[in-house]
Amino acid sequence: MDIFETIRTDHALCREIMEQMEESSPRGKTRERLLTKLADEFTMHQEAEEAVFYPTVLDEKETRDAALEAIEEHHVLAMILQDLEGTATDDERWLPKLVVFREIFEHHAEEEEEEIFDEVQDLLTEDEADDMGKEFAQAKEKETPKKAATKRGAAVEADEEEEEEEEEEDIDEGPEEEEEYEEEDEDDDDLPDVEEEDE
Ligand SMILES: [Fe+2]
Ligand SMILES: [Fe+2]
Repeated sequence: MDIFETIRTDHALCREIMEQMEESSPRGKTRERLLTKLADEFTMHQEAEEAVFYPTVLDEKETRDAALEAIEEHHVLAMILQDLEGTATDDERWLPKLVVFREIFEHHAEEEEEEIFDEVQDLLTEDEADDMGKEFAQAKEKETPKKAATKRGAAVEADEEEEEEEEEEDIDEGPEEEEEYEEEDEDDDDLPDVEEEDE
């Protein structure tokens, strides 16, 4: 299988798992099991893409912007997966989160399969595309589900730290605004008093 077919096959597998997830019952272990399957598959897929496929795409002037965008999408998709893994399967937000993941995934996979493949197909000979397919499969094998899960955890810890910082900022801003209002109110109330005192 060349690199293009290998990546298409992975995308098809992710779509299949997502379909099963959408049909699954909110209760029971199926959702959890399918989510782990999707998260492992997607993490291994995107790691292999970034290790084997994207270096070539980043190297070309015509495809560099698309590659940078795709890598950012990997990051966003990984965050949604981590969010889903931390959400109870019977939570009413679980399915909407999955739908958002699927929408971004579809946009991402379509860009890879159409725009990016079109360009990269012109850059590689058939043999090179075959070799890259093999390298991709090897990279995925190295990326075991356990490692994939650890990486997702690490990515989310970093994001949580950022969120905490933002929250702290929000807290700082909150009281200040209130104080301002209070001051304004006090000023209004005090105005006649101050004038009286001045007189
Ligand atoms: Fe990708
Ligand atoms: Fe992909």
